[in-house]
Amino acid sequence: MAKVSAKRKNKSVTVADIPHVGPGTPCGDWFRRYWVVVGIARDLYDIPQAVKVFGEALVLFRDEFGKLGLLGLHCPHRGTSLEYADIECGGIRCPYHGWLFDVSGQCLEMPAEPKDSKFPQKVKHLSYPVQEQGGLIFAYMGPDRDDPPALPKYGPLVDRGSQWQIEPVRHADYNWFNFFENSADPAHVCILHRHAGYGQQSWGNQFFSYTEMPHFEFVEMDYGMKVVMTKPGPKPGTEFVDEMSLALPSIVQVGDTEFVHAKMDAAALIEEGSQCEHWMFVTPNDDEHFMLFTADNYKGPEANFFEKLKALREKEAPVQEVMPYDKRQFMPYKGNIRKEDLMTQGTQGLLGERSEQLSVSDRGVIKFRKIVVDAIETGLRGGRPKGMVDKKQATEIYRLDTRVGVRVIIKN
Ligand code: FES
Ligand SMILES: [Fe+2]
Repeated sequence: MAKVSAKRKNKSVTVADIPHVGPGTPCGDWFRRYWVVVGIARDLYDIPQAVKVFGEALVLFRDEFGKLGLLGLHCPHRGTSLEYADIECGGIRCPYHGWLFDVSGQCLEMPAEPKDSKFPQKVKHLSYPVQEQGGLIFAYMGPDRDDPPALPKYGPLVDRGSQWQIEPVRHADYNWFNFFENSADPAHVCILHRHAGYGQQSWGNQFFSYTEMPHFEFVEMDYGMKVVMTKPGPKPGTEFVDEMSLALPSIVQVGDTEFVHAKMDAAALIEEGSQCEHWMFVTPNDDEHFMLFTADNYKGPEANFFEKLKALREKEAPVQEVMPYDKRQFMPYKGNIRKEDLMTQGTQGLLGERSEQLSVSDRGVIKFRKIVVDAIETGLRGGRPKGMVDKKQATEIYRLDTRVGVRVIIKN
């Protein structure tokens, strides 16, 4: 593990640090200790792709042999963007003066230098390790680049059911943590999303009802936190349960895709429980932008599950009438879950800069922020923060046990 600067040692981390991910910030340094998703394999063709991660401008590419590379975007010679480089001769060649770099950033050629020049050997461009898993491309931008920690074997990427998909990447222009901590706030599901059909579905006797909200519990886990929502079940001694998982550094699993999003017959599903994993990986571009990569893995009996889900999502048009004088940026938003989230999270401003008055229903958010602050401190001390696997765990499949369905009430 990397050394911790003396300056940092004496400073404690606060929630106001969480939104900031640039180099040298506490959250940025912590986040870089994990592998993060930087691209989708099927979207990476035979041309370089510019990508910004944690405030750093980078270029992602495959060399002619299919090896993945992630280098600094700007050529170390005189700064031209390698987004326009040529992929050839075992690397990526800057179009300006032809400096050629392999995936490790080593300069291989400088065509304009004297033939016997030793200068190419001395130039090593910024490069980060990259790995592909289940169609997603992960990068490690932390301090141990020569010996990075293991990339966890994420369940929906390595243990796929008969139906799975990687959704198109989504881009948003607000802070990554507004999105992430939103899942620690289940009350908003009953309130904000009531326009989009939550609460009206038959699942769990209108599980997410606006007036009869479920009971919420927030359980600290090895990987982060689990949100457990319950309501009395259909028979005595049973309960409806709907869980969401938040895994550090930035994964959310929502478990109720079949029930809520696909609006499938709840009665037929509730005993069996949810059979769809819906994992969202959040990667900050900088403090004001993030990318969202989604992996879905369905093991249930429904044929063409994702086609049906997509068709339903497309039908989810906002129900709000917009008057001609209404010039508000996010109108219309009511009636479409993703637009509802975009408006609320996109107008909050930065955690630590906005003023807040937290209430009882924010206890999940309060707990989760503390878990993240603790993880940042652990990471900065050189320890193993939540969500990072050790060598033994890295051989096992990494699962987020996110139960949705009916269960017998567990008495503690
Ligand atoms: S700027 Fe890239 S080779 Fe000169
Ligand atoms: Fe939401």
